[in-house]
Amino acid sequence: MKSKHLIAIFLFLLLASIGVVECKRHRHLFHSELVEFQGLVDCRKHTATLKDFGGIGDGKTSNTQVFKAAIANLSLLAADGGAQLVIPPGKWVTGPFSLISHFTLYIHKQAVILGSQDESEWLLSKKRFSSSLIFGSNLTDVVITGGNGKIDGQGEMWWDKFRNKNSSSSSRPPYNLIEMIHTNHLLISNLTFLNSPSLNLHPLYSSNVIIQSLTIIAPTDAPNTDGIQSDSCTDVLIQDNYIVSGGDCVSVKSGWLPSEHIIIRKLTCISPTSSVIGLGSEISGLVHDVRAEDIIAFDTKSAVRIQTGFGGYVKDIFVRRMSLHKTNYVFLMTGNSGFNNDPKPKKFPSIRGISFADVLADNVSMVADFHGLKGDTLSGICISDVNIVLANKYKKVQWNCSNVEGVTRNVNPKPCRPLASKGPIICPFPNEALSIEGVQLKMCSVKVKT
Ligand SMILES: *[C@@H]1O[C@H](CO)[C@@H](O)[C@H](O)[C@H]1NC(C)=O
Ligand SMILES: *[C@@H]1O[C@H](CO)[C@@H](O)[C@H](O)[C@H]1NC(C)=O
Ligand SMILES: *[C@@H]1O[C@H](CO)[C@@H](O)[C@H](O)[C@H]1NC(C)=O
Ligand SMILES: *[C@@H]1O[C@H](CO)[C@@H](O)[C@H](O)[C@H]1NC(C)=O
Ligand SMILES: *[C@@H]1O[C@H](CO)[C@@H](O)[C@H](O)[C@H]1NC(C)=O
Repeated sequence: MKSKHLIAIFLFLLLASIGVVECKRHRHLFHSELVEFQGLVDCRKHTATLKDFGGIGDGKTSNTQVFKAAIANLSLLAADGGAQLVIPPGKWVTGPFSLISHFTLYIHKQAVILGSQDESEWLLSKKRFSSSLIFGSNLTDVVITGGNGKIDGQGEMWWDKFRNKNSSSSSRPPYNLIEMIHTNHLLISNLTFLNSPSLNLHPLYSSNVIIQSLTIIAPTDAPNTDGIQSDSCTDVLIQDNYIVSGGDCVSVKSGWLPSEHIIIRKLTCISPTSSVIGLGSEISGLVHDVRAEDIIAFDTKSAVRIQTGFGGYVKDIFVRRMSLHKTNYVFLMTGNSGFNNDPKPKKFPSIRGISFADVLADNVSMVADFHGLKGDTLSGICISDVNIVLANKYKKVQWNCSNVEGVTRNVNPKPCRPLASKGPIICPFPNEALSIEGVQLKMCSVKVKT
């Protein structure tokens, strides 16, 4: 009898202890997860999570002060190996906050950063709104990444305001999701951006920028929601992105500083009101050495749109391997975008050295609209291996060419006369790699409590 009892007790204890071990192991499994992500210059020595600073991820409570406190705290560590701030699973409402150098913002796959809908959070002063949700200026070595975690701008209220404004007011919805100014070494990767009030990503006066593996989605009727607007930046690599937008999927602009050495590749784009890639702008500036390749687009107004205002110029643009399904215009270039009112321009705009190779398009209403200025011809245009199937409702004039000069080969439908002479077998695309392509990303990891 006694020994039976003892055996029973022994078995009970054994099972219980196995249970405890199991439990502990499960707790470990479910409550802490090792995640890997990319680093740019180096991985970070220090880690904190938003919860350490009292963040509440309930989708309601504002965490603006928490973000600010966390980043202020971590800024002390920038010189000591840098820091990363982990956004754990949850819905984290916040107003605008600024980043620091040698810093990583990691957004867990079950985390969502929600742009606050409380207008007072955005007002910096009377009528002056913050320009972005996540902001940075004069920084170096900044990484914004995650396991496809989300940043949702909840733009609806801002788009509605914009639409209801009287037409004389041209001010656009106030803020972009990310704006980084004068930042050197910037990586934005493996994230999802939703419902931006205005531009999604806006690097400005920055260099050595990598933007990759992003999903960016805004309703196609949401005004000015460009996916990525690279403005006056140099050495930029934009690759492997999926973008649905009410603005250009990618645009390259230039103001005071030139935009140079820019790669856009493996882009999938839907943009019924704008372009797959928009180059140049109303403002004068230089856009030079842009290489775009492996582009797929569905339902766009135009594929690559090139424009300049007075004094600006766009040159050495290379595009190859585009596949376009339903687009109004395949080629669109205009030498005076009409925004500049200077009656006596000191310099004429110029568009020179534009190369397109391997373009397939269907459901196209018009092939090309080339509009150069008198005495300022669009020149050095090269177009090869292009096959375009027209839409059921297509424009009578397929090529509208004024003040344009260049060559073509194997292009169908037949080009306009100024472009009819035969060019090289394939229009040029540079062989030598740009420095930004040689950047080796680090593999970093962090334990996230979930
Ligand atoms: C980032 O996303 C890409 C594309 O989805 C994926 O191949 C890659 O493994 C991801 N990188 C990391 C570090 O999660
Ligand atoms: C902020 O930084 C200080 C000094 O580095 C540290 O002692 C403190 O614990 C930090 N605060 C929080 C909430 O982590
Ligand atoms: C940032 O850097 C730019 C260019 O170096 C400089 O003109 C500007 O004053 C700096 N801004 C701040 C806030 O330091
Ligand atoms: C072109 O696209 C429209 C809108 O998506 C579609 O209704 C139409 O069937 C397409 N036409 C052709 C010829 O593919
Ligand atoms: C061709 O371009 C000229 C000048 O931009 C414009 O006036 C004309 O309407 C265009 N024609 C067609 C058929 O699009």
